[in-house]
Amino acid sequence: MLETRAGTLYDYPGYYDLVFGSDWKSEFDFLRACFARHAQRPVRHVFEPACGTGRLLYRLARAGYRASGLDLNARAVKYCNDRLRRYGLPATIRVGDMTDFRVRSPADAAFNMINSFRHLQSQGEARAHLQCMSGAVAPGGVYVIGLHLTPTVGRAMEEETWSARRGHLCVATHLRTISRDPRRRLERFRMTCDVYTPRRCFRLAEEIDFRTYTAPQFLSLVRSVPAWEIAETYDFAYRLDRPVQLQPDTEDVVFVLRKRPAKS
Ligand SMILES: C[S@@+](CC[C@H](N)C(=O)[O-])C[C@H]1O[C@@H](n2cnc3c(N)ncnc32)[C@H](O)[C@@H]1O
Repeated sequence: MLETRAGTLYDYPGYYDLVFGSDWKSEFDFLRACFARHAQRPVRHVFEPACGTGRLLYRLARAGYRASGLDLNARAVKYCNDRLRRYGLPATIRVGDMTDFRVRSPADAAFNMINSFRHLQSQGEARAHLQCMSGAVAPGGVYVIGLHLTPTVGRAMEEETWSARRGHLCVATHLRTISRDPRRRLERFRMTCDVYTPRRCFRLAEEIDFRTYTAPQFLSLVRSVPAWEIAETYDFAYRLDRPVQLQPDTEDVVFVLRKRPAKS
């Protein structure tokens, strides 16, 4: 039986990055293709709110993009900046709240790929984020958001498992829904993260609250912030040649929002 510690995986960026950073290539290729297809301006500068360890951001920086981002978690930000420096790249990530920030120079494209948006707990926070993002992305630029919707027919997915190994380090996470309250728009997960090294093995356990969105709820949220239009919709297959139509049973979805031109 593993020793269990209460704690969040976000405070252990090395473990987070191993388990969620291993399968980066399809998202990376998809993002680049998405920028090329949907941005109405050349994409040179990319921005990631809630970037965590910057598992995609640093790879985009290495590929030649100017990259910037922010995250609430100071440990993740340090991890991300340290890695950028190790590659001789500028340390451009800062601690910040994605509902309340401004940038010095707007990016051409932004992305937020795996449900970080659902950390925002109210309509007010979600709208504040989209408003901040409209200042962070230049007109014609895109904001790519990936999240799990709550289907309105059928059963929602309730469990997910990821694991990865590097050398003698192995990390296995398990996410399970423990309650879902559609009225309060709240889904509570229990997440465990089992860490195995030659010297120690332990389990991190935490509960995470995510706001829920049905497709109409998400679309109505986007419509409430006029700076954005929806350019296209995909799913977590990350196939640019296969846009998806939202259906009542759709769960994983990637919205490509485009910033409308400024009114003259
Ligand atoms: C699921 S992780 C995603 C990290 C990264 N975007 C990725 O794709 O690997 C969610 C991140 O959201 C951050 N976060 C949660 N609420 C936030 C907020 N209000 N402002 C900024 N970051 C936030 C957490 O610290 C965490 O790093």
